[in-house]
Amino acid sequence: MYDLQELYQEVVMDHNRSPRNFRKLGNANRSAEGFNPLCGDQITLYLEVDDDDKIKDIGFQAGGCAISKASASMMTDVVKGVSVKEAEHIFNNFRQMITQEDYDAEILGDAEILSGVSQYPARIKCAVLSWHTLKSALDGADTQRITTE
Ligand code: FES
Repeated sequence: MYDLQELYQEVVMDHNRSPRNFRKLGNANRSAEGFNPLCGDQITLYLEVDDDDKIKDIGFQAGGCAISKASASMMTDVVKGVSVKEAEHIFNNFRQMITQEDYDAEILGDAEILSGVSQYPARIKCAVLSWHTLKSALDGADTQRITTE
């Protein structure tokens, strides 16, 4: 029988090995940098938001642990093509999942597999780094630097 832990590892390793949208966007009009002060890992996120407030394209560059890279890959996958408002809703759901509040699993795509991370405080910052960077990029048109603290 397929065990949840095996599924978790398989999905995380797949996103880590073959991260989706792992590239710098030449035509980005929003971007943000995220920094995890606990380990020094960073992510740069690029968004192209069109005139209808839709995330037309998204990309990221990062050098971090498997969870942070996989989480960034999952995040870009799920918000690509949605409106800024929907992306904020998805961000809120992810945050609620990680803080063990009620959340809507349906809208999180592969990122729902990271729900178990909430049991491991040391890995929470890894999982949320790209998501807080997304929120920062959505909040302003200029480059911003955030930390997860
Ligand atoms: Fe640095 Fe996970 S150990 S982000």
